[in-house]
Amino acid sequence: MERDIILAPSLLSADFTRLGEEMAALEEADIKWAHLDIMDGMYVPNITYGPVMVSALRKKSNLFFDCHLMVEQPERYVVDFAEAGADLICVHAEATKHLERTLSHIEDQGVKPAVALNPATPLEMIKYVLPQCHMVLLMSVNPGFGGQMFIPFVLDKIRELREMIDKAGCKTLIEVDGGVTPENAENIVEAGADVLVSGSAFFKFPPYKKRHELFLFLAKNKFGPTGL
Ligand code: DX5
Ligand code: ZN
Repeated sequence: MERDIILAPSLLSADFTRLGEEMAALEEADIKWAHLDIMDGMYVPNITYGPVMVSALRKKSNLFFDCHLMVEQPERYVVDFAEAGADLICVHAEATKHLERTLSHIEDQGVKPAVALNPATPLEMIKYVLPQCHMVLLMSVNPGFGGQMFIPFVLDKIRELREMIDKAGCKTLIEVDGGVTPENAENIVEAGADVLVSGSAFFKFPPYKKRHELFLFLAKNKFGPTGL
């Protein structure tokens, strides 16, 4: 089956001393999505940045802002991130008590709702909300840090989710986040992913345009024209 593949570089591995320039360089490399990792030091051990940073970046960039909230009770911050300029807000199913309510709340702000699942969290958690989700993010590392190794059993999980989505007849995208490299991108896409997040394997290998092309070339081998 032919489908569009999107590469979403994770800013966690960008140069934080010159983020404005990094954003411009992504656009020059024909990148369409930026993956923004929001960590609160509670849901995950690490702390990154919040809505103030997203709002500053929004002034510098027209990219699609894919905001991955690794935050306890993320519903508390939905309005803040929506006002800051998020295009999509992704919450962890494990971090919110009323997932359906949180997704509806995101949608009410005019932002695309998405759910993330940690590697060990079963797909069953999202079965009933699937049609409400613009995207499901499957973590392929335990969240909190960039530069970790891809956990191999997640490939089976991607396949199962692909089946669930196709069976339900919905258009929900599958994003895979953690340890994605040009070497494993082909298998991840073959298993059913639409969106590949890449931090360290992207930003450490400029020029970005070449790196983007390499990722997409590998996906394109089997899946025809990409959306980029
Ligand atoms: C991890 C984050 C990822 C991370 C990916 O908690 O959600 O987005 O930055 O980085 P790499 O590609 O280096 O694993
Ligand atoms: Zn992420």
